[in-house]
Amino acid sequence: MDLKGRSLIEPADLNLKEMEELFVLADRIRKNPQGSGEVAKGYLMATLFFEPSTRTRLSFEAAMLRLGGQVIGFSEQGSSSVAKGETLGDTVRTVSCYADIVVMRHPKEGSAKVAWQELQIPLINGGDGGHHHPTQTLTDLYTIHCEVKKKGRLILGVCGDLKFGRTVHSLLKVISLYPQVEIVLISPPELKTPEYITKHILEARGVPYREVESLEENLPQLDILYMTRVQRERFFNEADYLRLKDSYILNREKMSKGKKELVVLHPLPRVNEIAKEVDLDPRALYFKQAKYGMYIRMALIMALLGLERKEEHDDCR
Ligand code: NCD
Repeated sequence: MDLKGRSLIEPADLNLKEMEELFVLADRIRKNPQGSGEVAKGYLMATLFFEPSTRTRLSFEAAMLRLGGQVIGFSEQGSSSVAKGETLGDTVRTVSCYADIVVMRHPKEGSAKVAWQELQIPLINGGDGGHHHPTQTLTDLYTIHCEVKKKGRLILGVCGDLKFGRTVHSLLKVISLYPQVEIVLISPPELKTPEYITKHILEARGVPYREVESLEENLPQLDILYMTRVQRERFFNEADYLRLKDSYILNREKMSKGKKELVVLHPLPRVNEIAKEVDLDPRALYFKQAKYGMYIRMALIMALLGLERKEEHDDCR
């Protein structure tokens, strides 16, 4: 794997072979989490979060700390000099004087690319508006790699806010590169997947897909169900959000219609689209998914900093 010095702005920045190599590295880390505790010693990560986040930021910070590196950063725009009028470009350029790798989340689509143009060090996009969230996609695919045992054709159902959900957009872009995947897009008509994904990606790649409204009717066929929350912060008006927010609620009764080997994923945070009672179902893997997210981020940080060989070398001592 040669990802040293590269950045991850959008899912297409990694090809399938590189992703598979990251999964192999994440497997190695996961099986021996203490074994990589010194790999990033002396390295510093900056986490610049201009938009709220719990999972992504803490998962990156945990990943870097578990690799023996250190972390600086901020978790809200108000505590950075952007509040004084500094441009994004100047902020990231300054930060790159201090850190070895930057993770950034920003509410504006395209901001990760703008920041990347200013940087001489690797940048990881932790989410830019409704656009991309490539490390969530790595998390999702890594969870599938670890948890889905079925071979051959897989039917993936994606349910909820398919219009604004960036995790969905990123996931569909990558999963459509895999052979033998069929996709069921489940949403209210107002929250349908943008055409640039259905027409220009799924259709163009010849991926079988359908757009439906009912979760109940389609759940029995699925191998994977990827639930998402309605993205309140991206709505232009609150009344629309209130009308659509409870479009889908996955509960025990609906789960009873799912396959025995069904895998239920969710990028989290959930609001009320999955009832708490579902957490006890062994097919509900969203918290495990969050843990896989930390391991795959450890692998990514190591690869972008060119440290994966160091770990191999340390292993051999
Ligand atoms: C997602 C995000 O920020 O897009 N969260 C995450 O990173 N795990 C999903 C969401 O906010 O709904």
